[in-house]
Amino acid sequence: MPTVRPATAADLPGVRAVAEHFGNLSHWLRRPDYLDREHDTGRLWVGVHDRAVVGFGGTTARGALTHLADLFVLPEHQSSGVGQALLARLLPVDAPRIVFASSDPRAVALYTRQGMLPCCPLLYLRGSPGTPPPPHPARRVTAADLADLDAAASGGPRRADLAWYGALPEVSAWRAGDGYAFARTVPGELLLGPAGGATPEDCAAAVLAALAEYGDVPTVRLVVFGPNPLLPLLLAYGFRVADMDVFAASESAPLPFDRYLPHPDLG
Ligand SMILES: CC(C)(COP(=O)(O)OP(=O)(O)OC[C@H]1O[C@@H](n2cnc3c(N)ncnc32)[C@H](O)[C@@H]1OP(=O)(O)O)[C@@H](O)C(=O)NCCC(=O)NCCS
Repeated sequence: MPTVRPATAADLPGVRAVAEHFGNLSHWLRRPDYLDREHDTGRLWVGVHDRAVVGFGGTTARGALTHLADLFVLPEHQSSGVGQALLARLLPVDAPRIVFASSDPRAVALYTRQGMLPCCPLLYLRGSPGTPPPPHPARRVTAADLADLDAAASGGPRRADLAWYGALPEVSAWRAGDGYAFARTVPGELLLGPAGGATPEDCAAAVLAALAEYGDVPTVRLVVFGPNPLLPLLLAYGFRVADMDVFAASESAPLPFDRYLPHPDLG
């Protein structure tokens, strides 16, 4: 039976092998990546069998809110209790907690039993930025400039994580009115998020303004909650649904679905 424990630096190649099996690193072309960040903040756990990493889980935090960012077990070790054991160690049961549940029925079953109920769909959109002109242009700022706006939209403060992300050479931070967006470019592709605003209109205006800064990028990816008014707009402009998760949350952890776009890995 596999055991679970906090990840050490020596576990990272094994963790990466599991993450790569599930295609999680295809958009992280260089290190440090989000798994290094989870490890450096002491939020990465592994499931080990015969000294080999067979699964891992990781979280990020926004104030009191914990986001379960990863829970993955290699197929030959699935349904043997590793996921549940990792979950029990990773998530507080008495504090606000959220997760983007995959279509694997084991995931939503485990999360629901742990007190995170499925709330709404989360759509991973992909498209080319042929979007309407923004009401006002975006201004390039620093991650620190956006920390308060992000805390109000995303469910809690995460100044250090934003500083880490904003310092990656391919990441830019944008502000438009009372909205904001982080943009990360990898060859041929732009990932937008986290993004948000004081109101749904501020959020939409900031996302469109940031997109307008990257008119020549062939493909854009972003993540939208079902109730966000940007969803019908982006679909009308040719974005396609590439994947879908279910957002699940403990009762005490609602998010403003209509004015926040999460990052797929950082939440
Ligand atoms: C989802 C995942 C992490 C769960 O880990 P795991 O080690 O396989 O899960 P466990 O064995 O600890 O528990 C699975 C539970 O799901 C339950 N389950 C399985 N199929 C189910 C179904 N169709 N409906 C309800 N419950 C179901 C099992 O009964 C089991 O609970 P039990 O042990 O109390 O009987 C793992 O299967 C996995 O990596 N899946 C692929 C990647 C993925 O989708 N990850 C989730 C990202 S959000």
